[in-house]
Amino acid sequence: MGIFERRASNKQSGFWTSAASVLFITWILVVAYYMNNPTPDGLCDPWKYRAFAAGKRIASDVAYAASLFTSLHSIQIFRSFVDLAALMRTPHPEVQGSNIRSSVTTFDGVKVRLYELITRKAGLGPAIVFMHGGAFVIGSTAMFDKLTRRFAEELDCVVVSIEYRLAPEHPFPAAYEDCLNATKWFMDHAQDYHVDRSRIGVAGDSAGGALAAAVSQILHDEPGYPDVALQALIYPITQFIDNHTPATFLSISHFGEGGSIVTWQEAGEFTCFYLLGRLDDRVVRALIDNTHTSVEFRRDSPLAQYVNHTLLPPHMQDYGHLTPPHRKELKGDDIVWDQIDEIVLDPRASPLLRRNMTGLPPTFVATCEFDPLRDHGAFYALRLKDARVPVTWEHYRGGFHGVLGPAWPLVFEVGEKMFQDLIEFAREHLAI
Ligand SMILES: *[C@@H]1O[C@H](CO)[C@@H](O)[C@H](O)[C@H]1NC(C)=O
Ligand SMILES: *[C@@H]1O[C@H](CO)[C@@H](O)[C@H](O)[C@H]1NC(C)=O
Ligand SMILES: *[C@@H]1O[C@H](CO)[C@@H](O)[C@H](O)[C@H]1NC(C)=O
Repeated sequence: MGIFERRASNKQSGFWTSAASVLFITWILVVAYYMNNPTPDGLCDPWKYRAFAAGKRIASDVAYAASLFTSLHSIQIFRSFVDLAALMRTPHPEVQGSNIRSSVTTFDGVKVRLYELITRKAGLGPAIVFMHGGAFVIGSTAMFDKLTRRFAEELDCVVVSIEYRLAPEHPFPAAYEDCLNATKWFMDHAQDYHVDRSRIGVAGDSAGGALAAAVSQILHDEPGYPDVALQALIYPITQFIDNHTPATFLSISHFGEGGSIVTWQEAGEFTCFYLLGRLDDRVVRALIDNTHTSVEFRRDSPLAQYVNHTLLPPHMQDYGHLTPPHRKELKGDDIVWDQIDEIVLDPRASPLLRRNMTGLPPTFVATCEFDPLRDHGAFYALRLKDARVPVTWEHYRGGFHGVLGPAWPLVFEVGEKMFQDLIEFAREHLAI
């Protein structure tokens, strides 16, 4: 009896071992397939980049396959994968040897992840309010916990990471309102957190960069509130009027027609979700083709000159192996423009389109060599410089969109350099 049992279990374990091997080999093949992407010369840590991009591509393809069997859009399924991944490395409130304790709370009804000092110094200290990236559609404070915790630890200061509402369920201006309301509430109650309200900086990456820039602008105009002490804009989105800047074309040369980490189709869909709260094929198509503005707007509006490619430094006017676009010949879809113009021209969505940049707070702008959104940050930095705002604009050779985080455990050398530069800038302007 005992012998038979053992035999049976041996047989079973043999089956599982082979099944596991087949699965493992399949997985390796799948990963190898996805990692076999073109990467340009000079990209930092190319193998880590490939692993990062492959992870994203696998998740979005699985999400697409799953969407065929449900009524959800693939981006919504993709978002739950991202949330699941963030959950699997659930932020711990306390970490051994660290002076920072995190907690989840609400500021004026907006959920935030708050990082506080366990042992405080006497008096009031500085703080940073962080707005995460994710194209206004994905991402969470949990996903960026490693980064925000590191900011708090390195600067030994309070950090507030805002869990703003996401599109498509909550299109513009929900995210912006959450960020503004939470930041104002934090300023009003700064003392309760042992923070000096005049030493609060804002920081954001990608979509969070647009939010941080908009919040800085509005607080500058708002009577009764001090300016933020600094704004750190990490490869920010700053406008929606030109989706075909030189960096976009260069990115096609570098990474191929499929796009880099995000495909062009996804980029169009994310933007449409944010602007309209739903998908509209015509709007998505126009956003991808850059025909979403009207010919008259591009020709006549002074706002259109804020994205004039000739403003960029000469080395950033390279279109790669593609023919430069003849903007004068570009068509415009008036029906699409009528649907989106009010939002797109609103500086709360496109902070680059604010007319008066004078007096805005000291700014750090990070742009990356291999980022299709590179010129957003470049245009913004140039406009601030013109208005004599103190600007530190760092351009990272070898960097790509997302290099700072949240790719952990993949750590990129360029991202580390950017992190150190951000810390140095914050120390200077928060008087740490
Ligand atoms: C933000 O605050 C303003 C003023 O207190 C309020 O009217 C508005 O409803 C708030 N917005 C959100 C999204 O909570
Ligand atoms: C960009 O600016 C230059 C110089 O002012 C001007 O000649 C050119 O027409 C502008 N381009 C567009 C597309 O408006
Ligand atoms: C621009 O903003 C600055 C600072 O807020 C202000 O002093 C100046 O008068 C404004 N300029 C115009 C033309 O509105």
